Amino acid sequence: MNIRTTLVIICFLAISFCESQTIIPIETKDFSMVFKTDAQNRLWNVYFGKKLKNQSDYAEVDKQYYFPDANAGISNSAYTPSGTWNLSEPALMVKHHDGNRSTELLFHDVSKEELDGISVTKIKLLDPVYNLKVVLNYKVWHDLNVVEQWAEIVNNEKGKIELGKYASANLFFTNKDFYLTHFQGEYLREMMPTEEKLTQGIKTVESKLGTRAMLLGTPNFIVSFENPAQEDSGLVMVGQLAWSGNFKIEFDIDSNKNLRVIAGINPYESSYGLQKGERFKTPSLIYSISKSGTGLASRQLHSWAKSHRVLNGNGDRLTLLNNWEATYFDFNENKLSELIKNTKNIGLDLFLLDDGWFGNKYPRNNDDAGLGDWQENKKKLPSGLGYLVKEAEKNDVKFGIWIEPEMVNPESELFKNHPDWVIKQPERSIKLYRNQMVLDLTNPDVQDFVFGVVDDIFTKNPKVAFVKWDCNAVIYNAYSSYLEDKGISQTHIYVDYVQGLYRVLERIRKKYPDVPMMLCSGGGGRADYEFLKYFTEFWPSDNTDPIERIFLQWNYSYFFPAITMDCHVTNWGKQPIKYKVDVASMGKLGFDVDVDHLSKEELEFSKRAIKNYNGFKNLVLHGTQYRLASPYQNPFASVMYVNENKSQAVMFSFLSSNRFIERITKRPIKLKGLNSDKKYSVREINLFQEGEGSLVNPVVYSGDFLMNVGINPEISVKRTSVVLLVDEVK
Ligand code: DGJ
Repeated sequence: MNIRTTLVIICFLAISFCESQTIIPIETKDFSMVFKTDAQNRLWNVYFGKKLKNQSDYAEVDKQYYFPDANAGISNSAYTPSGTWNLSEPALMVKHHDGNRSTELLFHDVSKEELDGISVTKIKLLDPVYNLKVVLNYKVWHDLNVVEQWAEIVNNEKGKIELGKYASANLFFTNKDFYLTHFQGEYLREMMPTEEKLTQGIKTVESKLGTRAMLLGTPNFIVSFENPAQEDSGLVMVGQLAWSGNFKIEFDIDSNKNLRVIAGINPYESSYGLQKGERFKTPSLIYSISKSGTGLASRQLHSWAKSHRVLNGNGDRLTLLNNWEATYFDFNENKLSELIKNTKNIGLDLFLLDDGWFGNKYPRNNDDAGLGDWQENKKKLPSGLGYLVKEAEKNDVKFGIWIEPEMVNPESELFKNHPDWVIKQPERSIKLYRNQMVLDLTNPDVQDFVFGVVDDIFTKNPKVAFVKWDCNAVIYNAYSSYLEDKGISQTHIYVDYVQGLYRVLERIRKKYPDVPMMLCSGGGGRADYEFLKYFTEFWPSDNTDPIERIFLQWNYSYFFPAITMDCHVTNWGKQPIKYKVDVASMGKLGFDVDVDHLSKEELEFSKRAIKNYNGFKNLVLHGTQYRLASPYQNPFASVMYVNENKSQAVMFSFLSSNRFIERITKRPIKLKGLNSDKKYSVREINLFQEGEGSLVNPVVYSGDFLMNVGINPEISVKRTSVVLLVDEVK
């Protein structure tokens, strides 16, 4: 332990006001969530809101509310059990070792550890009849107002128990009105927001897809208290269940208009057996709380993610040229060598070889064969991957590779040799998704295989510098022959799959801690903070039309910092290349075009813009993001990024509507996050023709002016995207 830091371990830290009453506050810088026991020692959630100055006041809060518990659909339990007094939606359902299905949880004790502004509070609850223990964990990043919470369920009974439902979190709020924004979609239209006022009953956001869990619905949400969510005002909670499989988040308004949020693994076909002595740790619910709207909530979450969660979250990122849309499956060594040269020529850091490089008996010339056979295709790549890595080295760029190691085509040697390694019903015909099936990662042999795919690439080619990890299939016909052979219930399949995948990623990171990896899922089917412990970035969507991307990146930005988002310039959309590059420069920039097909002017512009990106990427990747103008409320969008000491910023503004309006930004857009006492020069960069913009000559303004009057980027139908660099003048 670092002796320069203080570690405080307080057991029985709760404030006890009288023998029958224990108060447990979970406090961040600005907020607190408070639990209190009753005369029977049950634990209730009695307060959520602004932190009170005197902790002793928390004892009085619940007395101000009249919510008679004879109204049977009410429960502010800290973790609501089922089968006894509770008639509302439970957080926990247990079938005990003797078959009994009733559970009660009483407070036992609480402990808190604190180190460097991060605290972990553990509240232990016990069933007075059965030897069942539940530990509620609250990890708090005090200054960031970010909380991560999870539960651990321990079976100390005489025999096996079954968990029917095992939520991560059970929150309770007493405000008058609640607005929920959830993010649903479909392929190419991922993360689309809907805001609605919650009314009595349960609104459920869930996934049952198994692998590409986020494709249709996502585990991300914004709860706004009293009013619809605003960017710069109002109490909001921006949260996510960090679980890469089936999830279920229930927003339950009771008859007194209180809100309960129960979030966790989806119990659908997932009753989970715990042997005597075993414990189950649920995934985490992570949330940021803000009294100044979604802008601050996102910034708190971004800071947390970069410093405490995302792999190498404060590190650098490589720009890249991807060959997917330039070649699809149709390439050979010569073509790839050309693309590698183009990577260097245009000024990008890395060449990424996508799908289609493998499979011999069943060559991967289309998406219907070869997946699973991870040997170089001898026709396309007679000299192997090693040759391409060397070509990249010769050209002074790095080399990255695409894999999809969890999946298999039936037309593959892997499937023919190991049909039992695949998730499928033994007696039913197979059902494919993009011509493929999912490998059974509950099976340790399959875990070894998937680890081996990555290990083999790095062992043979230690200089491979980047991996794009794709996942294009959902789990149909959920059945594991491995679980069957081991006598384990099939209802473990969804959970054990995800845990098996985490185990593989853990092994990969142990051996290869630093190599950047992109999480991709046939578009944006995967992105969560459990995955991002192992991945440096993710692919938000196969939809790279830049107008669509403005909306997509805007929506993802509520939850994820720009450094995690891969944004590529492609042939999608009819907008000029400047517009495409400017949009992609709001994240981790990449190109997925045939550079040879760019006109001379487009190539020259791209080279300059990549150089500019390298100059300001520090602001985008490591700075603080401010959403200035929403494309949902305007025919334009504007976002800016400011560095830590407020000496430099970059502001992006775009036309985001196709409707004809001659001059789109009639008014200035107010900047945010600058120092009002500083002076800044503002100048336009990324001009298609050098010297042609209306803001090319730097103009000096005070921070005060820029934040209170603002600046007009002069967006019009002829000037659809504008990048302004803001530099402190001393
Ligand atoms: C889906 C991904 O989203 C694409 O970028 C590409 O890698 C293809 N898969 C390859 O099959």
